[in-house]
Amino acid sequence: MRRSSNPEKHRYNRIAPVYDLMEFFPEKVTMGNWRKRLFSYLPEGRILELGVGTGKNLVLYPENKHLIAVDISLNMIRRAREKKPDYLNVSFAVMNAEELALLSDSFDGIVTTFVFCSVFQPVNGLKELKRVLKPGGTALFLEHVRPGNKVLAKLFDLLNPVVVRIFGANINRTTTRNIKMAGFEIEEEYNLRRDIVKLIIARKKVNEAD
Ligand SMILES: C[S@@+](CC[C@H](N)C(=O)[O-])C[C@H]1O[C@@H](n2cnc3c(N)ncnc32)[C@H](O)[C@@H]1O
Repeated sequence: MRRSSNPEKHRYNRIAPVYDLMEFFPEKVTMGNWRKRLFSYLPEGRILELGVGTGKNLVLYPENKHLIAVDISLNMIRRAREKKPDYLNVSFAVMNAEELALLSDSFDGIVTTFVFCSVFQPVNGLKELKRVLKPGGTALFLEHVRPGNKVLAKLFDLLNPVVVRIFGANINRTTTRNIKMAGFEIEEEYNLRRDIVKLIIARKKVNEAD
């Protein structure tokens, strides 16, 4: 489905100035540790960070790493640019996950944290990630997802429209299933907060060039 505008782009452009403030406490208490855990799986080689946001992950990359960091929101990227450590080589670009202007089979690894809750058509975005990843490459995801508990899941479905309106993020995405639907192999899946926040390590099959 094509749309003439991207509401999520406008939402994130709008909340960019207060985004770090909104997440200050969760970041200190839990999210910061979850990010460090994800980065313990960072592969060698060329990395794409999708949905870089205000650049919270940038300090976690090793020195002299070269990465491409993209986001649909220019205002979020502007914040990320300010946070970029001097020792890191980052090319920033405004891009929609669903239409990446990047070569197929060109990255060794992909990092994405709390992004597929807001990509409009997540499976399309995930297919694009798989396209640009080299065969055998690793994609690392930190995502909050729809709970397995049926009652809680219904509650999340009910609350979702309000949360999307305020924060721009869906709280009822079935991201593990979406990752599989896009054709990735799930290598590891860790529950970080019950079964609601997950670290997912996925791989593009070795014999699958795009
Ligand atoms: C919840 S924020 C997370 C930001 C950052 N990854 C973090 O961990 O703090 C979601 C980010 O995804 C970006 N985003 C949403 N939809 C996108 C899309 N279709 N393509 C690229 N980026 C997108 C938003 O602009 C926003 O910066």
